[in-house]
Amino acid sequence: MTDKNAPDITAPMGPLAYFLDLHPAAGDFRADVIEGLRAPQKTISPMYFYDERGSQLFNDITELDEYYVTRTEKELFAQHGEAIVDAIHPGTSIFEYGAGSLDKIKWLIDGAADVVSYIAMDISRDHLIASATALAEATAAPVAAICADFHAPVTLPADILPAPDHYLGYFPGSTLGNMSIEAARAFLTRAAKTLGPGQQFLLGVDLEKDITVLESAYNDAKGVTAAFNLNLLRRMKRELDAEIDMDAFEHHAFYNTHEARIEMHLRAVMDTQIRIGEEVFPFAAGETIHSENSHKFSTARLEKLIEPTPWHMVNAWTDAKNWHGAYLLSNS
Ligand code: TRP
Repeated sequence: MTDKNAPDITAPMGPLAYFLDLHPAAGDFRADVIEGLRAPQKTISPMYFYDERGSQLFNDITELDEYYVTRTEKELFAQHGEAIVDAIHPGTSIFEYGAGSLDKIKWLIDGAADVVSYIAMDISRDHLIASATALAEATAAPVAAICADFHAPVTLPADILPAPDHYLGYFPGSTLGNMSIEAARAFLTRAAKTLGPGQQFLLGVDLEKDITVLESAYNDAKGVTAAFNLNLLRRMKRELDAEIDMDAFEHHAFYNTHEARIEMHLRAVMDTQIRIGEEVFPFAAGETIHSENSHKFSTARLEKLIEPTPWHMVNAWTDAKNWHGAYLLSNS
């Protein structure tokens, strides 16, 4: 008998050096939504944004005029890419948290000296296989993929790829900012364990800036971010047969100065209720479901965040406007 939860590895798999499947838990949408709606501050985990429509809407967000984040990160890497690759250990293997899309990773693989291999990790199996395969076909370095959740520990398989002298963890996109500060610390500590001592980590985070710039990035004029947020409710209707008056909710995103983060909520504009099966969740007008945070940093506050982790900061680069930062960390 085979255990369907046991990690399984296919090596090679098409153009990939290996595909390791750690069978990340898909999450129980119904149980998680019900638990979240029972809490005093109602919440739903942002992991449920990404059904097919949600993933499409997220892609559209990254191309919006107001959403500067993706564009600014690209400019930052274009401007400082050479200095960044110069600071990276030669003979490294790059381990990316998230499936690298070609245009976002090639500068690093092609630029760093003697890259031994590139390993992409992502929770979304199909998306991961598609991007890693495309990358394998476009680069000389061996490419491998690991399907896993970055909230859980990961051990890299030995003896399949040539042993690198070093590992570089790579986590762009300011995804660290979507975690709570405690979760971000736990994540970085786990990453240090996965990569081992004496390694480097390249982290991209979004920086504090003018509040109007921040708030318009998450409140675009076309309403794409609103549609992305409200898709959570549509998904609950579709998949959980939830009874929801869609006219009773609106997208609400604002900068919480005290916590230095954009908060996204679904706000009831009138007294209403959501019914899921037998359970009814009442909402008073103005009450919200908290759906996501996006923390904004300064170099000093990022240093404070990493202080209790095994990492320390070696280098910092920002774009010309000082809107986005790339940080090289080391745990030697
Ligand atoms: N990490 C990016 C950010 O915080 C992308 C992102 C994640 C995002 N969730 C989002 C963007 C929700 C808009 C809305 O900006």
